[in-house]
Amino acid sequence: MRIVMIGTGYVGLVSGACFADFGHNVVCVDKDQSKIDALLNGEIPIFEPGLDELVARNFATGRLSFTLDLAEALPGADAVFIAVGTPSRRGDGHADLSYVYAAAKEMAPMLPAGVVVVDKSTVPVGTGDEVERIIRETAPELEFSVASNPEFLREGAAIDDFKRPDRVVIGVNDEHAERVLREIYRPLTRNESPLVTMSRRGAELTKYAANAFLATKIGFINEIADLCEKVGADVRDVAKGIGLDTRIGNRFLMPGPGYGGSCFPKDTLALIKTGQDYEAPLRIVESVVASNDTRKRSMGRKVINAMGGGELHGKTVAVLGLTFKANTDDMRDSPAISVVQALQDAGITVKAHDPEGMEQAKKVLDKVTYCDGPYEALDGADAAVIVTEWDTFRALDLEKMKALLKTPLLVDLRNLYSRSDVEAHGFTYVAVGR
Ligand SMILES: NC(=O)c1ccc[n+]([C@@H]2O[C@H](COP(=O)([O-])OP(=O)(O)OC[C@H]3O[C@@H](n4cnc5c(N)ncnc54)[C@H](O)[C@@H]3O)[C@@H](O)[C@H]2O)c1
Repeated sequence: MRIVMIGTGYVGLVSGACFADFGHNVVCVDKDQSKIDALLNGEIPIFEPGLDELVARNFATGRLSFTLDLAEALPGADAVFIAVGTPSRRGDGHADLSYVYAAAKEMAPMLPAGVVVVDKSTVPVGTGDEVERIIRETAPELEFSVASNPEFLREGAAIDDFKRPDRVVIGVNDEHAERVLREIYRPLTRNESPLVTMSRRGAELTKYAANAFLATKIGFINEIADLCEKVGADVRDVAKGIGLDTRIGNRFLMPGPGYGGSCFPKDTLALIKTGQDYEAPLRIVESVVASNDTRKRSMGRKVINAMGGGELHGKTVAVLGLTFKANTDDMRDSPAISVVQALQDAGITVKAHDPEGMEQAKKVLDKVTYCDGPYEALDGADAAVIVTEWDTFRALDLEKMKALLKTPLLVDLRNLYSRSDVEAHGFTYVAVGR
C-alpha cells in the first residue's frame, strides 16, 4: 500500500515508521521545515525509545521518506492519514480543528481517485463528515472515502503499542475504506490484535470515551489517595485490593500529581464540550477535570506544607522530573508546570533536572536553574520533590542526597520509595496517599 502521513509529530512519525516496517511505502509530510530537515539528516525531532533505529532502518530501505511538499507525496496514494495536532481551542475547550480542515482543503485538489482519507488525529464526532464535505466541495467528481482510525499509542511505549495494540479501531461508512484499512493493518492480525470495525462516528467517539475513562480512573485513585492520608490507610493497599478485581483492573490506579500530557487534558475538555453541544452533559468527566485541575495546583502546596509553610523566600527546591510522565520529552500540560509555578509564587528558587524534557521545559518554565543531573539539582537545596517517575530517580543514593541537601526532606509525588528505607537514612518523607 502507498500511504501518505500528514503531520510528522509523535503520532505521525511513529505510525509512519511502523507502517513502513510492516512493508508499506510511506511518505511523511510536515509543514515544519526544521522537522523535515532533521529527519532527512537522520535526526529524530522527538524523544521516543527505539524510534531512531526504526526510522533509520526504514528510511534506508526507501520505504519511508519525508517531504514538505504534499503535491509530491499524493500521486498514487491508497490512503492519506491526517495526524496533525488538535489542541484545545482557546476559551471554550473545544478541539481546535483548524489544522485538520486546512490539511483536508490542501489535499482536496490533488487526491487520486479511490483514495481513502483517514483521520488519525483525535477529533470530535462529526469531523469526518466535515472533512468529507470540504473535499467534495473542491473535487465534486472525485471517488474517495473518509474513515476514522483513532490512535491509542502511549508516548514512551509508542512503538510497542503501535505494533502490539490491544485493538485497532476502524470507523468506516463504506466497504472500500474497510478493505483498504484491513489491508494496511493485516500484519497485525497475525499477532491477533483485534480490528474493531464500526461507524465513523462511533470510532471518533471511542477515542474520547477511552481517554475520559482512563482520566477518570486516575482522578478516582487520586481522590482515594487524599482520603487515605486523612484516615491513615495506604492507597497502594487499596489500589491492589480493588485492582485484582478483574472488573476494575489494576492499571491506571497509581496515585500521583494529577494527569497531564498532550491528550487527557485537552480530550476530556473536548468531550465535555461535545456533550454540551448535543445536550447530553457528561457530569462525571466534568468532575474529573475539576478534580485534576485542583490537584495539580495543590501539589505545590503539598511541598510548601512539607517545608513548614510560612516564609519561604530564599529557600531552594530541587525538582526531579519535569515531563508529564517518564520516557518522553513532552511537557504539554505537565503537572510539573503547576508545581514549579506554585513554588516560585511562594518565593522559592527552583533547580530542576529531567533526563529528556529540559529543552521543552525551557519554553514553558522561566527562572528555573536547569541541572545536568539529579545530584547537581539537589546540591544546596532545602528539599527535593520527585514529580516524574523516571527510572533514574528510583534508586538515588540516599546518603549522597542527604549530604547535598540542606534539609533531608523528600517529597515523593510518584511513590517511588519505601518510607522505611528513606526514613532510615534520616529523611523526612512525604508521599502520596500513604
Ligand atoms: N501524542 C500522543 O501520545 C497521542 C496519542 C494518541 C493520539 N494523539 C492525537 O494525534 C494527533 C497528533 O498528535 P501529536 O502529539 O502527534 O501532535 P504533534 O504536535 O506532535 O504533531 C503534529 C504535526 O502536524 C504538523 N502539521 C500541522 N498541520 C499540518 C499540515 N497542514 N500539513 C502537514 N503537517 C502539518 C505539525 O507541524 C506537527 O509536526 C492529535 O489529535 C492527538 O490528540 C496523540
